[in-house]
Amino acid sequence: MLKQLEELKQRAAQELEAVNQVKQLEAWRVRYLGKKSQLTRILRSLATLSVEERKSVGALANQIKAELEDSLKQKRQVLGQAQLVTTIKEEHIDITLPGRPYPVGRLHPITQTLHEICDIFVSMGFQVVEGPEVEWDYYNFEVLNIPRHHPARDNMATLWVDFETESGERNMLLRTHTTSVDMRVMEKISPPIRVVIPGRVYRYEASDATHTPMFYQIDGLAVDKGITMAELKGTLYEFVRRFFGEDRKVRFRCDYFPFVEPGIEMAIECSVCGGAGCRLCSNSGWIEILGAGMTHPQVLQRANLDPEGYTSFAFGMGIDRLPMLRYGIDDTRLFYSSDLRFLRQF
Ligand code: DAH
Repeated sequence: MLKQLEELKQRAAQELEAVNQVKQLEAWRVRYLGKKSQLTRILRSLATLSVEERKSVGALANQIKAELEDSLKQKRQVLGQAQLVTTIKEEHIDITLPGRPYPVGRLHPITQTLHEICDIFVSMGFQVVEGPEVEWDYYNFEVLNIPRHHPARDNMATLWVDFETESGERNMLLRTHTTSVDMRVMEKISPPIRVVIPGRVYRYEASDATHTPMFYQIDGLAVDKGITMAELKGTLYEFVRRFFGEDRKVRFRCDYFPFVEPGIEMAIECSVCGGAGCRLCSNSGWIEILGAGMTHPQVLQRANLDPEGYTSFAFGMGIDRLPMLRYGIDDTRLFYSSDLRFLRQF
């Protein structure tokens, strides 16, 4: 039996030597180390042998088994390496070439601007909140002192949603301004309130260099005891200083919005001509960037806040304008064109 084992070992070694493909290895393993192999059979039959024989045959058989397993492992490694080299050669893979860079994305310039604006207000104690883009007439108009047939509805060029209530009214729309969220906030949180509300707004408008049917706005709302116009001006002035720089001049003038009293508009010194007057600012030297005011007492009352105790300021501005002013971009449609040559610059 010892002789049989020696022969077996030699045959196995010879055959393994001849194997030159990884996939042939399995057949060899089954033949020499598998459950039905001669070696396994011998190992199983050890119990039937005499003590003497069992010792010598057992020792040799186990030794051979270990050797064969070892050779198999080595062979597998050698063939694996060889196959890799062949693959590389056959497929013409040049492993010395540098890797292909993956295109790395970035935030859209409007999103970057939005984050920057929110950061500034957050640092002044404001909270960032959001509201629905599909809105009820009630929040977008009614509570803001813009009832049905009010002329202020006309210049909002509203996109109404095809939905009718049981009484046949169409009162769902794509919000025309983020001011629509002001009342939702006042209904949910009690004062002191300091929030900014960024988001998309929609108007039924054809696109041109300064209009798109969808654009971004950010509204601000502060409600507390003893808030005055001085706080409003101070907050906006600080915002401009941080966003546009220390020396940027600011101008406040009276304006009208139904939901504030008094209402104001804020303009900044034109970035192109530095206030001297040019095409961008229609020769005025100023560029209007937002509307604001002291929240109308009726609006506060609708939120169950006593206007004798609480006062409030609000402001709202378009976001697209700010990067346009900062980088001298003259067409707002560029932001929504998905043209990477444009977007990659930011
Ligand atoms: N919602 C106004 C608009 O879209 C802007 C505005 C004006 C917002 C005055 C305000 C405000 O919060 O107080 O034209």
